[in-house]
Amino acid sequence: MDKIRIRGGRPLHGEIAISGAKNAALPLMAASLLSDETLTLSNLPHLVDITTLANLLVQHGAEIRMNGAAGNGGHTGRVLELRARDIVSTRAPYDLVRKMRASVLVLGPLVARAGRAEVSLPGGCAIGTRPVDLHIKGLNLLGAEVELREGYIHARAPRGLVGAEVVFPAVSVGATENLMMAATLARGETRLVNAAREPEVTDLAHCLVKMGARIKGIGTDTLTIHGVERLHGAEHGVIPDRIEAGTYAMAAAITGGEVELLGARLEHMRAVAELLGEAGVSVRESERGIHVTRTGGPVRGVDVMTEPFPGFPTDLQAQFMALMALADGAAMITETIFENRFMHVPELCRMGANINVHGASAMVRGRPALTGAEVMATDLRASVSLVVAGLAARGETIINRVYHLDRGYEGLEAKLAACGADIERIQ
Ligand code: UD1
Repeated sequence: MDKIRIRGGRPLHGEIAISGAKNAALPLMAASLLSDETLTLSNLPHLVDITTLANLLVQHGAEIRMNGAAGNGGHTGRVLELRARDIVSTRAPYDLVRKMRASVLVLGPLVARAGRAEVSLPGGCAIGTRPVDLHIKGLNLLGAEVELREGYIHARAPRGLVGAEVVFPAVSVGATENLMMAATLARGETRLVNAAREPEVTDLAHCLVKMGARIKGIGTDTLTIHGVERLHGAEHGVIPDRIEAGTYAMAAAITGGEVELLGARLEHMRAVAELLGEAGVSVRESERGIHVTRTGGPVRGVDVMTEPFPGFPTDLQAQFMALMALADGAAMITETIFENRFMHVPELCRMGANINVHGASAMVRGRPALTGAEVMATDLRASVSLVVAGLAARGETIINRVYHLDRGYEGLEAKLAACGADIERIQ
């Protein structure tokens, strides 16, 4: 199995092209099921999760054509043409769903277009139980009959979905996306209250509008969707990945380097920029993206709490913790979105970090140095936090279970090596 070897201590200097956002690309691909015409998506990242969802869509009946160069340092992205002329199967099998939770995003589109869906429950996952009850309750309110049987969500709306008011008791990115997609083809008006406002949700809304959907309140926490008879084809470019950009910002900061994140958008990363600013890292808009610098002394310890957008994202919590492990002072990091999202803590401690977890908070007492070690992690963001730590640690860090990184970071080693990191993939 592949591993990544890093010899730490080299400041990053240079440019990193930010890829299209995985978490925007996945719902956009699922939206292709809503129309019998072609949806053309550009700037897609080249990642395993994209292939997993493409395989699922194909078995629902989508024809998928890929063109455009992959990679090129992330500059061009891929172009996918997706056309679901007919839905040939409404079943999303366990085999495919268990590989990736985001597969549940086909539920809303299938029920809306075909009047039924049988989607496997995603099952447990490394970062807590992650239920899908909000997706199910929402579909229920739109008139679908939903039953859980034999590990599957069975949803039926033979006479079509009907608009309704859905008030989410908690903010959910996936449930907002699923219900927004379903509501585009429902009869009448749907209001989604306490909806997620993540840039990926907004990107999906913009694409649905291009396909003919009628959506008001885009970018706010109340979305009003007026159902239409049918959606048509469209062309849409995926937004840049704010989590990838934030990860490289932390990497530049921890090594005392200077990088330009090409294509990154500050408006998607205000909370991250503000927090890094408090820690002594400059993050500012540049002509081609975002410029990040930390020169001079160590970063300062600052507290943070993860929150739904526009707050600080849970998907950058682990990377920020790696940065704080080398801070001057202490930092209290509180995770409010997911339970059990501190799996990186014991591994960071093996590299010399001083971190104590109390419930949903981790107290990080900054140390002057970390030392390389052999480490592994059980999820994507936890794994990349070990890469961030390894870039600054003394000596050699070996990261196992690289397949997690391949789910979310396109060309990770190449992008970091081009900025001077000593990093390579080994067998
Ligand atoms: C998405 C992102 C993920 C990110 C997360 C939070 C994708 C593909 N993934 O995941 O990277 O970390 O948003 O920003 O976009 N919840 C329920 N019931 C539900 C649904 C969610 O209780 O039916 C809970 C979850 O367990 C969690 C919280 O709500 O505690 C937020 O989850 P949600 O926003 O739904 O995350 P995802 O859409 O799965």
